[in-house]
Order: sequence, then structure tokens, then C-alpha cells
Amino acid sequence: MNILVLNGSPRKNGTVANLLKSVVDGISNSYDVEWINLYELNIKPCIGCMKCRTDQECILPQDDAHIVGRKIRDADGLIVGTPTHWGNMSAQLKLLFDRNVPMFMGEKPNGMPCPRQKGKPAVIVTACSTPWPFNFIAAESRGAIRAVNEVLHYGGYRLLGKIVKSGTKANPTISNRLLTKSKIVGSKF
Ligand SMILES: Cc1cc2nc3c(=O)[nH]c(=O)nc-3n(C[C@H](O)[C@H](O)[C@H](O)COP(=O)(O)O)c2cc1C
Repeated sequence: MNILVLNGSPRKNGTVANLLKSVVDGISNSYDVEWINLYELNIKPCIGCMKCRTDQECILPQDDAHIVGRKIRDADGLIVGTPTHWGNMSAQLKLLFDRNVPMFMGEKPNGMPCPRQKGKPAVIVTACSTPWPFNFIAAESRGAIRAVNEVLHYGGYRLLGKIVKSGTKANPTISNRLLTKSKIVGSKF
């Protein structure tokens, strides 16, 4: 079994990265884990041609979106981390997802979506500066989770858990409680 970690934060030692590390800590040693820092990658934007609805891959010239897309396709599980940016996922994570629609879903002849990762386990991690409960009332963390889950849902993934750290501006420290929760979620793979 191999698990792919997508760190969608530009900060390699930020809150999201540290929470992702805790989730990974909880994963059984018998699993292979690959970690990708998305902000190190070269990914051109989607041009909206919709060719990927009939092809298996994006038609743009080969770049890191293709390489990571194949890893997503082949992984047995996915851990997706993103800071909340404008109540959404980070731009680089969105770019990766936009360029890899066929890794997540196909289209049936009648136009209905068809999940390509049905039943595979996934975890979502996010952090935001808005304190609780406003991170949910104002759709900050809630917006980021909804956006990532939109992709995972159409892929057919089975969500093992969501890890949310709020209020990082006033309180950047990650509590032991949240670190423990992250490990427990990781142990569910
Ligand atoms: C471009 C940008 C947009 C952001 N948008 C939001 C937001 O909509 N809501 C929020 O609560 N925090 C927002 N933040 C703050 C980050 O979510 C917060 O600093 C988070 O802890 C960063 O996590 P990281 O250290 O793992 O990157 C934003 C930060 C940046 C850089």
C-alpha cells in the first residue's frame, strides 16, 4: 500500500505541514508514504479545453501536473493538506486538481460523472488564521474543506477524517490534542 501526501502549503514547516507530519506518524510502517510539496512544482494552468473529459490525461505539454497526476491515480490513499486561502484551498493545490480531472472522475456516455478512485481512503488537513467558531460560521476552514472534498467526493474517496487548526494568527501552537487526533486519523489507513 502506498499513501500520497500532497502538501498544498507554500510553507514547508508551517501549520499544515506539521499536521500532515502527525497524520503520517500515525500510519503503519508497512505502508510506503510519499510526500510532495506542491509549491516546488512547475504546473501550468488549465486552459479549459475539456479534452480531458474524453482523454486519460491533460493535453498540455508534459509538466509536474502529469507526474503527480499519475501518482494520484496509482496511490492507495491520499492525504491532502491546504492552508485556507480566501475560504478555499490554496492556488497551487487547485491548479493540480484542475489539471487532473481524469485522475478523479470520468464521464459515462450519458454525461454523468463516474468516480475513478472509488473506496480509496483520504484525509483532509487545513489551517486558517480565523479563530473558532468563526472559521466555520464564516466558511473559512469550512470553505477549504468543502472545496477539497468536492474533488475527493467526485473521485469516490472514503474520507477517514478532517484535521482543522483554526486561529493560527493569535495562537500558532498546535495543541497536543490536535496532534494526537491527527495520528489517530493516520492510523485509520
Ligand atoms: C493568500 C492568503 C489567503 C488567506 N486567506 C485566509 C482566509 O480566507 N481565512 C483565514 O482564516 N485565513 C486565511 N489566511 C491565513 C492562513 O490560512 C493561515 O496563515 C494558515 O495558518 C497558514 O497555514 P500554513 O502555515 O500551513 O501555510 C490566508 C493566508 C494567505 C497567505
